Amino acid sequence: MTRAALSTQDYETFRIFLEEACGIVLGENKHYLVVSRLGRLMADEGVATLGELVNHLRQGSNRPLRERIVEAMTTNETFWFRDTFPFDILKDLILPDLVERRVRNPRIWSAACSTGQEPYSISMIVQEYLASRPGSLGDVQIHATDISPTILQEAKDASYDNLALARGLSPERKQKYFVQVRDNRWQARPEIRNRVRFSQANLLQSYSLLGRFDVIFCRNVLIYFSSESKADILARMARVLNPGGYLFLGSSESITQYSDEFEMVRCPRGSVYRVKSGLSARPSVPPPRPGPRPPVGGKG
Ligand SMILES: C[S@@+](CC[C@H](N)C(=O)[O-])C[C@H]1O[C@@H](n2cnc3c(N)ncnc32)[C@H](O)[C@@H]1O
Repeated sequence: MTRAALSTQDYETFRIFLEEACGIVLGENKHYLVVSRLGRLMADEGVATLGELVNHLRQGSNRPLRERIVEAMTTNETFWFRDTFPFDILKDLILPDLVERRVRNPRIWSAACSTGQEPYSISMIVQEYLASRPGSLGDVQIHATDISPTILQEAKDASYDNLALARGLSPERKQKYFVQVRDNRWQARPEIRNRVRFSQANLLQSYSLLGRFDVIFCRNVLIYFSSESKADILARMARVLNPGGYLFLGSSESITQYSDEFEMVRCPRGSVYRVKSGLSARPSVPPPRPGPRPPVGGKG
């Protein structure tokens, strides 16, 4: 597909489709991005213009095609212990706070987990914390979600090449928490993998099947969304957080303008948001425990 094959009207129609499908807002002048990311997919589908592709989407339910387009248009960049400070805050402030408040079996949500580096980094921190305070929290469950089934499959496999492992993982942690499965491939050990559950979830849709959480990591994804989607997602995240629950955003993301339901907790090298008290109450029934979950449906 060339720039010429992408008419202004097709581009506009595609922009609307993409935002409705996954929240990503394409700027006015991102034609090159669409052209470069969808060229191969369109060749595979045998369509010449973006308008034709959108027409294909409109004809009945074509879920695999929708998923492929969303996967082609999303950015999956991630690495181990990204930005460092959220993991320090988790270890030094949040896990001790949960122990202090006698929270049992806390749940942590990695809400756009990409290939798994974020939830497994969280799991390593939990492992290290519990090694020095065994039994202090009960079972910690990490629930990791992403919109992309392909990415989720990679995340579940928990197996990475040396290049991916070199991005943020210390040699000590690599030796301790990974086992070599092939020449250039290492897999996270069961004690790190087993506390992480994965399911597909679109942040634009309902969170009601996910249960409630004590900590949410929602990092480096809202940056692509409109102000309305950010406000809506933050409001619904506030509702699934237990009282005193925490929310991490990416280091270039902020809550100001979008939500007044959180207060900022400043820490030596970064900050985290805490849901204001009175917004949510711990439910009398426990949240869902491990097990495969269906994809989420309408809003809630
Ligand atoms: C840049 S990665 C961030 C990964 C990780 N949170 C980090 O900070 O390293 C963004 C992820 O968001 C996912 N994503 C994009 N739109 C989404 C949506 N509407 N719902 C859920 N996940 C989405 C993408 O598939 C991608 O894996």
